Amino acid sequence: MPEQKMLTKRIGDINPLSIKDALEKGTYKQLEKALKMNRIDLIDEVEKANLRGRGGAGFPMHIKMMSTAKQESTPKYVVCNADEGEPGNFKDRYLMENDPHIILEGILIAAYATGASKGYFYIRGEYNQAISIMKWAIEEAKENGLLGTGIQGSDFDFDIEIRTGAGSYVVGEEFAMIESIEGKSGRTRVKPPFPTDEGVFGKPTLLNNVETYCNLPFIVDMGGENYSKIGTKTSTGTKLISLSGNVTNPGVYEVPFGTTVREVIEDLGGGVPNEHKIKMVQLGGACGPIIPEFMLDLQIDFERFEEFESKTGAGAIIVMDERQDLFEVLMRIVKFFQHESCGRCTPCREGHVHLEKLVHSFFKGDGNPNELYSLESLARVMHHSSLCGLGQSSPISIISSLSYFRDAFHDRMAFGGGEK
Ligand SMILES: Cc1cc2nc3c(=O)[nH]c(=O)nc-3n(C[C@H](O)[C@H](O)[C@H](O)COP(=O)(O)O)c2cc1C
Ligand code: SF4
Repeated sequence: MPEQKMLTKRIGDINPLSIKDALEKGTYKQLEKALKMNRIDLIDEVEKANLRGRGGAGFPMHIKMMSTAKQESTPKYVVCNADEGEPGNFKDRYLMENDPHIILEGILIAAYATGASKGYFYIRGEYNQAISIMKWAIEEAKENGLLGTGIQGSDFDFDIEIRTGAGSYVVGEEFAMIESIEGKSGRTRVKPPFPTDEGVFGKPTLLNNVETYCNLPFIVDMGGENYSKIGTKTSTGTKLISLSGNVTNPGVYEVPFGTTVREVIEDLGGGVPNEHKIKMVQLGGACGPIIPEFMLDLQIDFERFEEFESKTGAGAIIVMDERQDLFEVLMRIVKFFQHESCGRCTPCREGHVHLEKLVHSFFKGDGNPNELYSLESLARVMHHSSLCGLGQSSPISIISSLSYFRDAFHDRMAFGGGEK
């Protein structure tokens, strides 16, 4: 099965440090077209396309756009979430480092449609190269009249500023990001109100992922209806997958929704090297479900992933062969989230401390039935009662492991053999 390149089509052929090259290859042509359209018609095209957010939650883009557009309060903001802090995800970095102008074009189309005049491009602080490339691209766009006042001879004014993270993962969550942009500590807020009503500095704010914005020029180009024919009926378009782990060709691949996990691993990733066998695969990123080999014919789409009480996440596939120990993996995941918890709510702050102790018992081969019960109930309580997506999704790896690898927990009980 080949890739279906749309967002990544020009990568390799375009010089990311040259706006001249980008312009010659057609970037900003769809912005020109969009600027001649009525704002509401533009949002209608996004609705017809059924574009859903690529940052994890899969929320319909047009609803956020319309909600921001109809607000009377000004100024309005557009935020691009390029924090990408979740282990296993690197597709936004790939876009930023290789085709920065396609991202800016998407943001500009979204800003025009919603009436926003100011943008923040929030990049993960560790992404030094992406930060430099995006800064360069923004400067070049300004010099070429694509940012600032009267863009492309229209009455549309828009400017964008880069903000960088400082090593926090939770700042990728939308409200934590907004707080950080405002100069506060990056912690979430209680919702509602949502960012479209009260976002940056209390003003209407459209906040989306890098990949989500990149789809807009293609929707403008081909029209929403044609775009919606790519992928499946309910999950339209393509998805960038960050493929990593025990796989021959790790990397970023662009596939239509509906492609199976097995196709990505075997046809594009070249399978597991050295005749090792796949033992388990984690989907979405560190906060996604861990599934066994026999489930790899699962389609990549929003609905299938929701069956795991999960989201597609940002599209990571992490392959682990038979040499990997499930409990070592779970320990790493729990420690990561414990470290990243902002401490604001009890289920997540205290829950991770206990999760770590419980997983550690099984890791050592010292578990017992009471701990198995406690582990399962605690993971579910955290999933259902944490304040933000960090605490809600971090236990998914444990919940899914208990569903698909339950025998492994029994094998790690003190009386069940116990050896690692
Ligand atoms: C702990 C946490 C971290 C997140 N990190 C990111 C991130 O790095 N990038 C991202 O786009 N969305 C991230 N999200 C999701 C955002 O809150 C938000 O839903 C998303 O940026 C919206 O964009 P989209 O609709 O285009 O997907 C994170 C959510 C949580 C709870
Ligand atoms: S779930 Fe965790 S990260 Fe989110 S608000 Fe609660 S303590 Fe903070």
